[in-house]
Amino acid sequence: MENKIVIIGSINQDVVIQIDKIPRPGETLFGKTLSYFPGGKGANQAVASKILGGNVIFVGKVGDDLFGSNMKEYLATVGLSNRVQTEAGVSTGAAVIYVDKQGENAISVISGANSMFNENDLSILDELIPDDVILLQNEINLQIIFDAIKKAKSKGVKIFYNPAPAIKIPEETITLCDYIIVNEHELEVCFNLPDIDFKNINGLATILSNLSRKYKFSPILTLGADGYIAVQDNKVYRGEGLKVCVIDTTGAGDCFCGALVTFASKGYDLQESLLFANKAAALSVTKLGASSSFPKFDDVK
Ligand code: RIB
Repeated sequence: MENKIVIIGSINQDVVIQIDKIPRPGETLFGKTLSYFPGGKGANQAVASKILGGNVIFVGKVGDDLFGSNMKEYLATVGLSNRVQTEAGVSTGAAVIYVDKQGENAISVISGANSMFNENDLSILDELIPDDVILLQNEINLQIIFDAIKKAKSKGVKIFYNPAPAIKIPEETITLCDYIIVNEHELEVCFNLPDIDFKNINGLATILSNLSRKYKFSPILTLGADGYIAVQDNKVYRGEGLKVCVIDTTGAGDCFCGALVTFASKGYDLQESLLFANKAAALSVTKLGASSSFPKFDDVK
């Protein structure tokens, strides 16, 4: 039987500005294009999983405004709008994203409806059975995320946590997770490990192994163009980045997480799931936009 994947997370309207160079404080620069794309880490990860064939249930919130109805309509086209609620009197989450000519980005987020989650939104977890999967990020109220992790653990659900944007994660929460997926910046902030040398792959393997031993979870570190490194049961899994033509890296991490849980939910082991996620994420950076650039299963194959 195929396991369920529950994703509780943010929905944003992304307002994307393509510009040669991201402005510094005090600087005014002309951009090249302005576009509106669907976004939000939760919605992005849910879309990535759904279009790759995941059995996803997505719980999210929008405000009662134009962005909210646009985002709900978009999520309906991928079959993910059933559990998206409209909150009255609040704006939909929004992100202003600069994308420079190397495809790198800088993002500011306004939470809006994404900060309106409450304990009732966790009732979905009552429907889960052991080996179902939950995937969480940090763009909704943090207490709900910590409570969701606790509740999921009590049900024997596999817990994937992508603590982005980064915060220092409480130790109790770390120990409840099965997998924590971070990028370089998140590894330093979430585990309070400043000044890591990210070019030293052996050093990274040691850091991840120590975390894994101490807190009993599998850490997965994404390294952008340099691929990933992960540790599970004292084994190190390392994958190189794939060579692609980069247009926009926005959402690549979300695509990686969504693809990873999709494969894991179908019973593939970590090594196979990582290979697949790495390929999906590489394809996602070859187009502008977050979830609108994510590949389908056949593209990844
Ligand atoms: O991870 C990319 C996402 O971060 C964007 O879609 C934006 O909405 C921000 O939440």
